[in-house]
Amino acid sequence: MPTLDPEILHQKCPVTAANIQRQVFVCTGVSCSNNNSQATLEKFWEVLKEKGLLYGKRGSLDGTVIVTTCGSVGLCAAGPAVLVYPDGVWYYGVMPEDVEEIAEKHLIQGKVVDHLLAMRVSIGRLQH
Ligand code: FES
Repeated sequence: MPTLDPEILHQKCPVTAANIQRQVFVCTGVSCSNNNSQATLEKFWEVLKEKGLLYGKRGSLDGTVIVTTCGSVGLCAAGPAVLVYPDGVWYYGVMPEDVEEIAEKHLIQGKVVDHLLAMRVSIGRLQH
C-alpha cells in the first residue's frame, strides 16, 4: 500500500483537507432508482447548496456535507434510501419534498427526522 505525504495527498485529493462533518448517501440501486432516487439526490444537491452546506464541485470547498450515491443497502421495498453518517441514521421513502426537512432538522439541528427513520446503526469507536 503506497504512503503519501499528507501535503501531496491534500493536493491530489482536496477532500482530505475539507471540513466534512457528515456524509449523506443516496441509494441509486435499481429499486430506489425505480422510485426516482435521482430526483431525491438532485434535491439534496440543490437544498444543501442553497444552505451553503454542500461540499464539492456542485457546492463549495467550504461545505461540510458531502453527498454521494451508494448501491443497494436493503431498503429496496421502501426506497429511496438515504443514510446519514457518522450518525448511522437510515431513512426510507425519502422523496424530494422530504429533503428540506432532513437538511434543516437533521443536518443543521442534529435531530433525527422520526417519521422517515428506518433504523439506526450503532457506530463503533475506532482507535488509532
Ligand atoms: S435499491 Fe436502494 S436499498 Fe435496495
